[in-house]
Amino acid sequence: MSYPTLLTKLQDGILIITINRPEKLNALNKDVFTDLSAVVDEITQNSAIQSAIITGSGSKAFVAGADILEFGNLSKEAAKALSKRGQDVFFKIENCIKPIIAAVNGYALGGGCELAMACHFRLATTHAKFGQPEVNLGLVPGYGGTQRLTQLIGKGRAIELLISGNMLDADTALQYGLVNYVVQADELLNKAIAILTNINTKAPLAVGACIKAANAVFSKVQNGYDVEINAFSQCFDTEDTIEGITAFFEKRKAIFTGK
Ligand code: COA
Repeated sequence: MSYPTLLTKLQDGILIITINRPEKLNALNKDVFTDLSAVVDEITQNSAIQSAIITGSGSKAFVAGADILEFGNLSKEAAKALSKRGQDVFFKIENCIKPIIAAVNGYALGGGCELAMACHFRLATTHAKFGQPEVNLGLVPGYGGTQRLTQLIGKGRAIELLISGNMLDADTALQYGLVNYVVQADELLNKAIAILTNINTKAPLAVGACIKAANAVFSKVQNGYDVEINAFSQCFDTEDTIEGITAFFEKRKAIFTGK
């Protein structure tokens, strides 16, 4: 499929998604949200796609935030709808049962930081910068940033970032656990592809169940331990679990089919 605001390339089961508004530092407008929502549907539905990478076009920014142009003269009701729409799309990414990782190639600010945090984990280049600068506009994050930042780096650090609007450099983001790896810009995509190539050899249903159970830690409506019991037990209804256990005893590499 093609998308007006995204470039996509399917390579060995990995869909590389590039947000493509470089002249606006890939700021998230309504069209980008529509396309992100649709591309997650494609990831979910297309069996040729095993995992995905989200990155930004150009060398300067991953995403420099929500498109501030769309904030002019918003009514309270329209602002509520905008925030809800952004949250819904980011929940969709977070709850996708195929891994979606962020390759952060520059500024990840505001909605860009929120998008990266909605992904299952993050890699960054040495020049990447993270932050929630909404307070500088007299705003608060609206796409889950207050929640996910606190989950990922802890309350004290999150509140400091949220209320100061300060940016974190890549090394500090690594130290805080906001990103898993920091690499040189020209290694970013290759590193992300290498990580997913390994994950893509694992049993897809088990991978999806791990994501679901880990997400349930933060759910207000589900008990994560119960989700884990269900996920664990459901594995025993799958051919891949039988194959994985059989292959272990036969001292060979398992061949998983996603069934
Ligand atoms: N929304 C809309 N447009 C944006 C944008 C955003 N979030 N971030 C950058 N842009 C646009 C700029 O307006 C500029 O457009 P123009 O050339 O038509 O004037 C273009 O992208 C380049 O940005 P510029 O500010 O000139 O680049 P810079 O290198 O001087 O600064 C940033 C980079 C990221 C520090 C700066 O663009 C910035 O602070 N952006 C806003 C970040 C933010 O507050 N995000 C949260 C929004 S809720």
